[in-house]
Amino acid sequence: MKASREVRLKKYAKGSVSADNFEIAQVDLPDLADGEVLVRNIWMSVDPATRIRMADMSGFDSPIPAFTVGAPLDGGAIGEVVKSRSPDFDTGDTVQSWLGWREAFVAPGAALQKINAPGIPVQSLLGPAGVTGLTAYAGLKTALPKAGETIFVSSAAGAVGSIVCQLAKAGGLIVIGSAGGAEKCAYLREIGVDHAIDYKAEPDMLAALRRVAPEGIDIYFDNVAGAQLEAAIAAGRDNARIILCGSVSTVNDEAPSPGPRNLILMIGKQMRMEGVTVFHHFHEMPEFLQELQRLVAAGKMTWRETVFEGIESAPEALAALFDGSALGKALVKLGA
Ligand SMILES: NC(=O)c1ccc[n+]([C@@H]2O[C@H](COP(=O)([O-])OP(=O)(O)OC[C@H]3O[C@@H](n4cnc5c(N)ncnc54)[C@H](OP(=O)(O)O)[C@@H]3O)[C@@H](O)[C@H]2O)c1
Repeated sequence: MKASREVRLKKYAKGSVSADNFEIAQVDLPDLADGEVLVRNIWMSVDPATRIRMADMSGFDSPIPAFTVGAPLDGGAIGEVVKSRSPDFDTGDTVQSWLGWREAFVAPGAALQKINAPGIPVQSLLGPAGVTGLTAYAGLKTALPKAGETIFVSSAAGAVGSIVCQLAKAGGLIVIGSAGGAEKCAYLREIGVDHAIDYKAEPDMLAALRRVAPEGIDIYFDNVAGAQLEAAIAAGRDNARIILCGSVSTVNDEAPSPGPRNLILMIGKQMRMEGVTVFHHFHEMPEFLQELQRLVAAGKMTWRETVFEGIESAPEALAALFDGSALGKALVKLGA
């Protein structure tokens, strides 16, 4: 028997999350049955989707399931095998799982994926070299970008956004990125973004887009929805494409917010709007990793992390996605 701490949903979130929504509980892990593995987590991913799943979704046909009150949260994690009764895993193996938000766990070997990541920090498999990066790659590819086109990326200093910006730059696009605050905009310029817009200092996003791209935009990679989506529709050129990736600006709304009020503009401009879900693009991971490797080697791709320490910091790490204090990929480090 081994003790572990886990973060549970204490009550459904309505509006911004606070300490009241979480409970950190100590659990005794069971002895291993045949085929099972004991894993100690080292890193866990912090994602906006966790906040979405913390809401009471009854009556809402969500493609991702809500968490259960009283049960632990989950999410991407990387850990080390401490003990194994599975023929597929040995003590000391590094493994990836969907069992984050806990320090350690016992699971069947089928719930784990062995990883081997020579030359890159292992936690980047939860970010740029994992689902985050693939989301950026698949979303951008879906927009059918062409060199010379202009792309606007929101939450451009975020985990997905910063990778989209660099992939687009490498593809010869003109990149406009929005982020909150001067520090994040300076970071955007550092990674090659042509026009960084501080949406907090310049809240009229349409005016900002018209200032930096008077001819309009060809692609909008939407991480935030809300006002920035409306501005992108208004700034779209004929045949512009909008990739719906996320809606971080509306996730904390207490009731669903109305969609863009200017959708009608898309008709005349023959614009296209398309949702992208990374889970439908896992088969593209090998080609994405090859491209990532090529860009890293050419000095055209870098990334940043905001790291929180210890399981007790996980609720604060999630809140940091919404108060603007996280830059790049948000992670919690759970052990050495
Ligand atoms: N479709 C898929 O398969 C898929 C997969 C992964 C992620 N996603 C979505 O992709 C988006 C980006 O994910 P991520 O993991 O990279 O998160 P992220 O962009 O790093 O999210 C955190 C950032 O969102 C920004 N933000 C928070 N509130 C905002 C607001 N009201 N208005 C504008 N920006 C706000 C903040 O940056 P600022 O300081 O700049 O405001 C914050 O640092 C999210 O919407 C996520 O749900 C979708």
